[in-house]
Amino acid sequence: MLSSCGRQSSSRLGQISRHIGHQRRSLVGYTKTQLPLNTGTEIPALGFGTWQDKGAQEDAVAEALKVGYRHIDTARVYGTEPGVAKGVEKSNIPRSDIFITTKLWNNSHHPDDVEKACDASLKDLQTDYIDLYLMHWPSPFARSDKLMPKKDDKIVAGDSDFVDTYKAMEKLVESGKCRAIGVSNFSKAELERLLKETSIVPAAHQIELHPYLIQADFAEWHKSKGIHITQYSPFGNSNPIYDKGENLGKFIDDPVLKDIGRKYSKSGAQVALAWGIAKGKSFSNCKYLSVLPVSFRHPHNTSSGRCLSSPDSSTGRSVIPKSKTPSRIKANFEGDFKLDAEDIHKIDGLDKKMRFNDPSESFGWNFYADLDGKQA
Ligand SMILES: NC(=O)c1ccc[n+]([C@@H]2O[C@H](COP(=O)([O-])OP(=O)(O)OC[C@H]3O[C@@H](n4cnc5c(N)ncnc54)[C@H](OP(=O)(O)O)[C@@H]3O)[C@@H](O)[C@H]2O)c1
Repeated sequence: MLSSCGRQSSSRLGQISRHIGHQRRSLVGYTKTQLPLNTGTEIPALGFGTWQDKGAQEDAVAEALKVGYRHIDTARVYGTEPGVAKGVEKSNIPRSDIFITTKLWNNSHHPDDVEKACDASLKDLQTDYIDLYLMHWPSPFARSDKLMPKKDDKIVAGDSDFVDTYKAMEKLVESGKCRAIGVSNFSKAELERLLKETSIVPAAHQIELHPYLIQADFAEWHKSKGIHITQYSPFGNSNPIYDKGENLGKFIDDPVLKDIGRKYSKSGAQVALAWGIAKGKSFSNCKYLSVLPVSFRHPHNTSSGRCLSSPDSSTGRSVIPKSKTPSRIKANFEGDFKLDAEDIHKIDGLDKKMRFNDPSESFGWNFYADLDGKQA
């Protein structure tokens, strides 16, 4: 991995670090777990997902913010950016107290389209910056105003290279439109190539990960690279859109999770969230970003010795449960609690390499080729 700092001119770096200097590193008054990103800022470990139920998201987001969530996950393709903006407005919580992630959709991978797509998200989110902007998938669709450009009912693939797309995203960090960038749904080989050929180490990789799809080696690899993992679909097949493993039963009802839950007076769902957060945490002392290998450092981070809350080189793991149901929104927020090591270990044993989200066929791209759960 080439040092990103080495590739930036000092004046460009100076410009960027001045910009970063104005950013708040962590959310003031937030009492739940926050985890360091390789940018030097922090992300609340418990976020709020907004995929599906578009019409319900304004109220759901407002409710989530009222309950205490300060990390909201959306995406251009979900159509929920306007609902998120309205929910934030309704909540009366200042924008600066909320960590917002959104994602670049596949129809905008051409480098000339990336800034335009980001601007559209900024407009719908009614904000002038995005905390974390992710490339939703490595796979390009044809350039189009349509989210799903189709011919004969099949999605038309594009020819943009995800490396070029990411390089265009890097410019959004320089301009201040995005405070951090990252990716989602990449295989290990795709991510390795990205690390070799681009300047900014992704701050986060958003992937399907839950107790039935643990991906222990891949998760460890992220730690070694200083890339935060955001676990999507943390309740796996509770999402009704997933049709794999129909006879499996909902994993949040798995007897092991429920049994562990009884010990803490928590549900299986809450235990699954606590497990995700625990797996990304450090188990030893805090370290200083300045002593991390240079390959972990973000080109914008000039920090010299800020104590990170993470123990080793890990930048932690966040979980982003979605719910439109007020009682569940509240209950899920109580999923940020400490599990004993023996319970974490028991949950590790539940792995079924069961992947629920794989649109390879419809997107015309062989996703996750080198990852667990490909054949499930
Ligand atoms: N990057 C990507 O490609 C990608 C892919 C998938 C998801 N995501 C992100 O990750 C977020 C979460 O994933 P997800 O939406 O797939 O699924 P999820 O959060 O794992 O599960 C959501 C489903 O579980 C139900 N639920 C929520 N809390 C519950 C509880 N305490 N007990 C029982 N059921 C509960 C919800 O129902 P109700 O809403 O009816 O309460 C909903 O049907 C998404 O919303 C999105 O932001 C990203």
